[in-house]
Amino acid sequence: MDRPRRLRVTPAMRALVSETRIAPENLVLPLFVKEGATEPVAISSMPGVVQHTEESLAGAVREAAALGLGGVMLFGVPRTRDESGSGALDPEGILNRAIRIAVDAAAGGTVVMADVCLDEFTSHGHCGVLAADGHVDNDATNQLYRAMAVAQARAGVQVVAPSGMMDGQVAEIRDALDEAGFPEVSVLAYSAKYASAFFGPFREAVESQLEGDRRTYQMDPANRREGVREAELDVLEGADMVMVKPAMSYLDVLREVADRSPVPVAAYQVSGEYAMIEAAAAQGWIDREAAIVESLVSIKRAGADVILTYWAAEVARLLTVSR
Ligand code: PBG
Repeated sequence: MDRPRRLRVTPAMRALVSETRIAPENLVLPLFVKEGATEPVAISSMPGVVQHTEESLAGAVREAAALGLGGVMLFGVPRTRDESGSGALDPEGILNRAIRIAVDAAAGGTVVMADVCLDEFTSHGHCGVLAADGHVDNDATNQLYRAMAVAQARAGVQVVAPSGMMDGQVAEIRDALDEAGFPEVSVLAYSAKYASAFFGPFREAVESQLEGDRRTYQMDPANRREGVREAELDVLEGADMVMVKPAMSYLDVLREVADRSPVPVAAYQVSGEYAMIEAAAAQGWIDREAAIVESLVSIKRAGADVILTYWAAEVARLLTVSR
């Protein structure tokens, strides 16, 4: 009889043959920064996550670096919004201010990344600008993404992360960065980003104004091949890393992208994934820490090199203690 249980007999034996480990270096912590906030603001649907002030942001980034996290991903929450999301391009806009603060606080100890997308900055909440008939105008939006990426590079960002799912956005951003003299700034493409209900709590986190949905640009959850195709196109357009998002409901897509990708693959454990585990744990229905670690191990096992997770700092602390 085959006896696979032999390798499970003791903790040391199990550790010896464990195939998948999560490490702080591969985790990225998303951070929200609210313009004009004088104190961190709690996000009710994401217990434990806050909208930072500029000051508390600096502290969070210093902590991320001290914990050895791979990076931080910045999102801005502006005070005012307009049709074209002009706050995203303003060097004094909240996201560009946050980048300068984070780069300074990181002091090279963790990678500073930022979201390139207009949804936090537009009055209608869409990821791009609207044409006269109300649809999101792909090519006009790409022109704004070009300027947004360059503004972020000028603020010192190391990685720009286009998340708006416009066709050709990676090529446009790469071209704009090179033209402006930032060939060393990397592009982490949100390649296979699905129109997901699991983004729900994020909308509260950034005070999104969106009515309706994003199904004309984000992908249909039913489509696997299309996710692989989007990742392949982004690599051809010059993406330095590609991403699958959300993570847990899309592990099949993640596995397939990871098997084919010539570049590192990231996965984003999104706000709704965070909220579900926190909510169940708060009820006493699930072992919180075990569920967090299991969820991250499953994402890594499915092929993610890099994982964006709101638990990054906590998990890094947990890993150092348990070693
Ligand atoms: C777009 C963006 C979103 C998320 C990351 N970037 C929201 C959306 O596309 O609706 C979601 C992240 C999360 O849910 O944790 N700027």
